[in-house]
Amino acid sequence: MTAEQTQAAPFQKAAPFQEGAKRNMWLHFTRMSAYSDADVPVIVRGSGPYVYDQHGKRYLDGLSGLFVSQVGHGRTEIAEAGARQASELAYFPLWSYAHPRAIDLAERLAGLAPGDLNRVFFTTSGSEAVESAWKLAKQYFKLTGQPGRYKVISRDIAYHGTSMGALAITGLADIKHPFEPLPPGGVRVPNTNFYRAPSFVASSQEEFGRWAADEIERAILREGPESVAAVYLEPVQNSGGCFPPPPGYFSRVRDICDRYGVLLVSDEVICAFGRLGHYFGSARYGYQPDIITFAKGVTSGYAPLGGMICSDALMEPFSAGTATFLHGVTFAGHPVSCAMALANLDVFESEDLLGNVRAHEGAFRATLEKLHDLPIVGDVRGAGYFYGIELVKDKASRETFSDDESERLLRGFLSQALFDAGLVCRADDRGDPVIQLSPPLICGQEQFDEIERVLRDVLTEAWKRI
Ligand SMILES: Cc1ncc(COP(=O)(O)O)c(C=O)c1O
Repeated sequence: MTAEQTQAAPFQKAAPFQEGAKRNMWLHFTRMSAYSDADVPVIVRGSGPYVYDQHGKRYLDGLSGLFVSQVGHGRTEIAEAGARQASELAYFPLWSYAHPRAIDLAERLAGLAPGDLNRVFFTTSGSEAVESAWKLAKQYFKLTGQPGRYKVISRDIAYHGTSMGALAITGLADIKHPFEPLPPGGVRVPNTNFYRAPSFVASSQEEFGRWAADEIERAILREGPESVAAVYLEPVQNSGGCFPPPPGYFSRVRDICDRYGVLLVSDEVICAFGRLGHYFGSARYGYQPDIITFAKGVTSGYAPLGGMICSDALMEPFSAGTATFLHGVTFAGHPVSCAMALANLDVFESEDLLGNVRAHEGAFRATLEKLHDLPIVGDVRGAGYFYGIELVKDKASRETFSDDESERLLRGFLSQALFDAGLVCRADDRGDPVIQLSPPLICGQEQFDEIERVLRDVLTEAWKRI
């Protein structure tokens, strides 16, 4: 093949891609029937904050893939770090052994994590991280004379992953029902959507925050403190559309966890690695978790990796005699993933990506808030480079859409229209209907304006169709 033919290859392969995608692939959380008469979108390459499909069309990656691509696409320095590592040592397990890149990365993460969190247990994904933290909590309490503690408290509509344990912690009823019975012990409390706060606490954020935190205490008391192992919270809850914590919420939750001897797990699978302008979301809100779970942005998606970070105190019962944390997965802390995570963190430092988010998050918010003049936009909320826009049928009463309207609006129109207009984002109705944005951390005003322009056009058209 000549160089010219190689260049053209992605376009020529368009038809075979469609055939193969439709015949042999099973896409995640996807109604496959939607593609019986339509093309499967095939993304073939990326550069900076943009990705390109098989026809060469450009899209702004307003969701960082899936809250992943912090440093943007096409970073050859990260790719090269992975290639070098694969040549040197492609694989070795973390079962009884260590390897240099996992050690380097664990040291680096321990240095970045808040307070005394310095012990890193690697996984390959966020679900595994969430599940590992639950298993750690259960075994920790068994070893320390409190074997009855196994329950986990999490918030309504919160997403914590799809493996059976993580799904038991997840608060989205619809994605749980097909797989019941799930492991016992998942307990739900209200989330922190202030826009939908119950009327008796809707007049002040502080009051709402106190009530929402106290609901955790009430749940602990109702279940019996001696049966509760952990509370799982995201710094900013993703599912439902980016609920930031009300002022005082996390310090009150921390006190409640301490009062009843319950572990606080900060699920930062989305909120770590700069998404909120800090390496860890808990640092932004000034609380100290007992365990942080992470994944996604640690490698910016150049390779899969996740993990949990805890303190020496949590490891202490496992550090003597025959005690062993009886848990592990083959590819956890894969050498290539760790090398790429280190190269990713180098980019964070050399380009001051945390500084970029902190400098521009106000402009991002201000640009999105311009959309408030549209009748369909009810609320714009979030923090850092992580925003949700809640859509409503009636701005004054905050009336939301019926299931049927939501189906027609989101699935029947919005998702496709936004994509066709060149914006990758997420139209989601697992809670009330929202559009979610989470652009790469390299973005600035040019991309914010592009996002606003596409949303304005598509939401204006959506309103006409209601
Ligand atoms: C907060 C949170 N926890 C856990 C997960 C599960 O991560 P994964 O899809 O890597 O298993 C996700 C995924 O989006 C998440 O947002």
